[in-house]
Amino acid sequence: AERIILDCDPGHDDAIALLLAHGSPAIDLLAVTTVAGNQTLEKVTRNARAVARIADITGIPFAAGADRPLVREVETAPDIHGESGMDGPELPAPSLALDPRHAVDLIIDTVMSHDPGTITLVPTGALTNIALAARKEPRIIERVRRVVLMGGGYHVGNWSPVAEFNIKIDPEAAHIVFNAGWEVVMVGLDLTHQALATPEVVEQIAQIGTGPARFVVELLEFFGEMYQEAQGFEHPPVHDPCAVAYVIDPEVMTTRTVPVDIELTGTLTLGMTVADFRSPAPEDCRTSVAVDLDHQRFWDLVTDALVRIGEV
Ligand code: BDR
Ligand code: CA
Repeated sequence: AERIILDCDPGHDDAIALLLAHGSPAIDLLAVTTVAGNQTLEKVTRNARAVARIADITGIPFAAGADRPLVREVETAPDIHGESGMDGPELPAPSLALDPRHAVDLIIDTVMSHDPGTITLVPTGALTNIALAARKEPRIIERVRRVVLMGGGYHVGNWSPVAEFNIKIDPEAAHIVFNAGWEVVMVGLDLTHQALATPEVVEQIAQIGTGPARFVVELLEFFGEMYQEAQGFEHPPVHDPCAVAYVIDPEVMTTRTVPVDIELTGTLTLGMTVADFRSPAPEDCRTSVAVDLDHQRFWDLVTDALVRIGEV
């Protein structure tokens, strides 16, 4: 199985990413770390622990990380995720104790204590923790297998005309991560806007009939309403599990190797993920972007994970 560390800000879609990682036999989830984003660090960390309770995720460390971006002020997304960061379902009181380490140290310790080339970092929030980890212990850059992140978009934005939320709220961190030299797979909005939770998808998950599946249905219902109101989507795009799905089964999407850099000075384009589609890509290019999603195959992965999690 693929060893991953999930760095997240739950967040409806982060919660589903966590359930997918936990339930998939192709993933060995080593640690979960949190970062301020969809809501404050305190809220997203509580939400991550609530998901752990719902799916009975035990025996792996959960640690809280950065409570703000590197340079900029905290920016949250209550118009999409509500005041709690995961509005909709009723959340159980978390039982899992947080790891005492800072997320950055947990990431570093985990990567340095495993064989080189065996751990994939999967960030589904702002890249603050990942950037700090790379700066604090640069040896992790050679040591991780790759970074498969949800963020950005080469043709579309959602937090500005050209910038996506995870990148826009901490563009300096994104700049560090995209320029570190490790392999980066960018699963951006171009891809995740194909991962729509249609009524057929919601029904397929409801059919599972377990508590964790009902939790996902409630998340998707709330997420759907918010996306309709805030961004005019008929069905909500479920971003974050797409990054986990790529690690499980790269065939679930197509990718293209292209240079990607982060705009830090544009007056209209701050936080844009600027992808260079001119051919040929440089030989040493280590960044790629996700292009086309196999919609049914993706949702079957999510469904399969929930079936395996079962009733807890
Ligand atoms: C990203 O922003 C957050 O609101 C979601 O959880 C996802 O990671 C989509 O732009
Ligand atoms: Ca997220």
